[in-house]
Amino acid sequence: MVLSMIENEVTTAIGTPNIALVKYWGKRNEKLNLPMNSSISITLDENLNTKTSVMFTDKLESDLLYINKEKQDINSLDSPEKLRFIKKTLEFMRNKSGFNKKALIVSENSFPTSSGIASSASGGATLVFALSSALNLHLSKREMSIIARQISGSACRSVYGGVVEWRKGKKIDGSDSYAKQVIEPDYWNELRDIIAIVDGTKKKISSSLGHQATIATSTLYKARPKHADAEVKIIKEAIKRRDFQGMAEIIMKDSNNMHATMLDTWPPIMYLNDNSKEIIYAIHELNDKKNKYVAAYTFDAGANAHIITTADYADDVFDVLKGISGIKSTIQSGLGMGPKIKNNGSLIDVDKLGPK
Ligand code: PMV
Repeated sequence: MVLSMIENEVTTAIGTPNIALVKYWGKRNEKLNLPMNSSISITLDENLNTKTSVMFTDKLESDLLYINKEKQDINSLDSPEKLRFIKKTLEFMRNKSGFNKKALIVSENSFPTSSGIASSASGGATLVFALSSALNLHLSKREMSIIARQISGSACRSVYGGVVEWRKGKKIDGSDSYAKQVIEPDYWNELRDIIAIVDGTKKKISSSLGHQATIATSTLYKARPKHADAEVKIIKEAIKRRDFQGMAEIIMKDSNNMHATMLDTWPPIMYLNDNSKEIIYAIHELNDKKNKYVAAYTFDAGANAHIITTADYADDVFDVLKGISGIKSTIQSGLGMGPKIKNNGSLIDVDKLGPK
């Protein structure tokens, strides 16, 4: 019987972050994470990853969640918003399956958490994928995208590999606000994201707080949703043509536009630091030297730079980054495949659980 198979079995999934090329900033509905504009991103490969193991068991009296080896207080009503969403997701998916055992969830990121490398996107999508499989729910990617969106908006895009569009949707219940794949990862093997870590510490202002503060106080923001929607349409066509020249300027301008609305928020939100700014100037200089766009910078809610480029110019980008002393490390990624189930590498040691 299906339900008895679930008990005490560990399911492990691996998933990856995404980096938005045209970004989501501002929610039309805070509870459901419905965005003001559509967005488009690339899912990264497993050089950066989240691993999540899930087990349902009657050996536990309450649900347990560990993120990066730290126990999280998911059962408290005062827990941070993202933890409350995780708890809600777990309860929703468990109810849907008809299974009622408590869950042990262990999740680890291979990269700095909450520092603008989309750890919540990677974590949210991987969790939904692991739970769907552990509970035998057989959810479609669209259904998983809608559930992941509610943990963290950008997580809805990490359910797919390749290049992914999140259509903002119109409906009040959010049933038409989900991600769709634009191209498969193999369609553009040469595309690269070179990440320059300039700050591995946790960001001071969470994106959940930032989204709404910007909508509430920035005059510049008023022009952003319509503009971003138009950019999504243009860049999508450029991506389908594998046209780097057609997308590079949109990527850089969109990042600058989003960070301008953040700076225009009151009190101001500033994620970029002096190293980020040095990288911006250096990439413009590189493009000028080559007489065309060979690289495009973009920054999420953090100081760490994502440099989008192609395999032919990756070495040029690394050479430029070598000249910037504040860079602590770099990571290179191509287009990733999206989350998958892993048959080995469980993060749960079943023997250590002992009897109830
Ligand atoms: O998904 P959230 O609430 O962490 O918001 C993420 C917003 C950005 O990363 C800044 C942009 C994006 O589209 O991913």
